[in-house]
Amino acid sequence: MSTAQSNPTDPTSTTSSTSSTSKLSFRAVGRTYPVGDGLFTALGNVSLDIADGEFVTVVGPSGCGKSTLLGMAAGLVEPTSGRVLLDGVPVTGPGPDRGVIFQQYALFPWLTVRRNVEFGLRLAAVPAAERRRRAQYAIDLVGLTDFADALPKTLSGGMRQRCAIARAYAVDPQVLLMDEPFGALDALTRVQLQNQLLDTWSRERRTVLFITHDVDEAVYLARRVVVMAARPGRIDRIVDVDLPYPRTEEIRLSADFGRIRNEVWHAVYHQPPATPATRAT
Ligand SMILES: Nc1ncnc2c1ncn2[C@@H]1O[C@H](COP(=O)(O)OP(=O)(O)O)[C@@H](O)[C@H]1O
Ligand SMILES: [Mg+2]
Repeated sequence: MSTAQSNPTDPTSTTSSTSSTSKLSFRAVGRTYPVGDGLFTALGNVSLDIADGEFVTVVGPSGCGKSTLLGMAAGLVEPTSGRVLLDGVPVTGPGPDRGVIFQQYALFPWLTVRRNVEFGLRLAAVPAAERRRRAQYAIDLVGLTDFADALPKTLSGGMRQRCAIARAYAVDPQVLLMDEPFGALDALTRVQLQNQLLDTWSRERRTVLFITHDVDEAVYLARRVVVMAARPGRIDRIVDVDLPYPRTEEIRLSADFGRIRNEVWHAVYHQPPATPATRAT
């Protein structure tokens, strides 16, 4: 069976204008895992195009394949069907063109903020002076200037997460892939980091794919919210967030915001309840 025909754009014509405006493309991707003598479909047939410089968020119930989708873009999870394209080129593994940020920020506890941020640049054999310059830029960007020489254990959770974000920024990726990056933080810190991320995004115009289970966060950040559903993991619908940037607290409290938030909320929470026995046990 050919999957190419069902695609809205022809994946073979990578020089077409459609490809040049689409930074990241999921083309009919799926992922199955063997369970007993059958297959469990973690992600069904998902197609999604993300434009260069676009901010897209993904929400959906636990286990609907959000991390699987992001992992495919990161090159950490191999699709069992379909493919992921970055600038029209199939993703075959991780690369410095994509920065990945997880909820559990893994900083090296014995390295200072600056050394942590420089780590990826060292791996990439960036010369010392350039490394220092890029690390300093990223540290300033996330507001950790005064803490560059501090060790992670002396920082709050929010500051540690900012350090992890700076580490991803320093490598200067074109695409940021963020998997519930603020999930472990308190509400106030979360709002601060949301605003800072938007601020950075509006200056740098990177393409962002951001996963969250927080509907408010999804709507506040994105131009489009992808709502996923489970069993099999799939896109249920995509909600346009027709609100201007810069997003402000005034926008967050507006009636328009509330209307969109309710729409997304309804889509996420009025999905059929999960059945406990979908996997053979
Ligand atoms: N390595 C694996 N082996 C078997 N099942 C997996 C594996 N990784 C993920 N899954 C299953 O795939 C589904 C989607 O997982 P995931 O993408 O992590 O969901 P989400 O991030 O939306 O919570 C889940 O049911 C999960 O248990
Ligand atoms: Mg997940």
